[in-house]
Amino acid sequence: MPITLAVHFLSFGLVATSVIGGDVVDGAIRGALRRGAAQEAGAIAGMMLRLALCAQIGAGLMLLTGVGLLAESHWARWGQGWLTVKLILFGVLILNGPLVARPASVALRAALQAGKVDATPPPLRRLALFHVVQTTGLIAIVALAVLKPF
Ligand code: HEM
Repeated sequence: MPITLAVHFLSFGLVATSVIGGDVVDGAIRGALRRGAAQEAGAIAGMMLRLALCAQIGAGLMLLTGVGLLAESHWARWGQGWLTVKLILFGVLILNGPLVARPASVALRAALQAGKVDATPPPLRRLALFHVVQTTGLIAIVALAVLKPF
């Protein structure tokens, strides 16, 4: 149990790092575009792929260790309101990756390679919104897990 919870926390570190890192990378791309350096922005955008991998590994470990924690407590938590909402939020954050971030990131890199970009291209705005949703969702999940309000 302590080891499963420890790995659950470490995996959270991976997820949080990639969510915050994604936001930082967004900011760096924005800065490069403001200076008109589309090529530099393209190079920075490549970092998104590494961060996405980091997020996927972290999310997979969260799921594995989460199920482990449930099994170790003989599913006593199963059906509790906080856990149900936490799992729904977790599902939304997972789907947000392939449905929103991936197409936006592909479109952004294509626009950068074609050199037809303004200071805030639409895919970059979608990525910024994606990061706001991921950060808010992550904070809500941690608050639910720690406070268990219902
Ligand atoms: C991004 C995803 C997740 C985050 C940020 C997260 C965060 C946390 C945190 C901070 C705790 C510690 C609560 C405490 O000790 O007070 C915790 C515990 C726990 N989590 Fe997660 N979790 C996530 C995903 C999951 C998933 C997918 C599951 C189930 C499949 C899960 C099941 C559990 C369980 C059963 C506990 C132990 C609750 C207890 O008995 O006190 N978590 N989680």
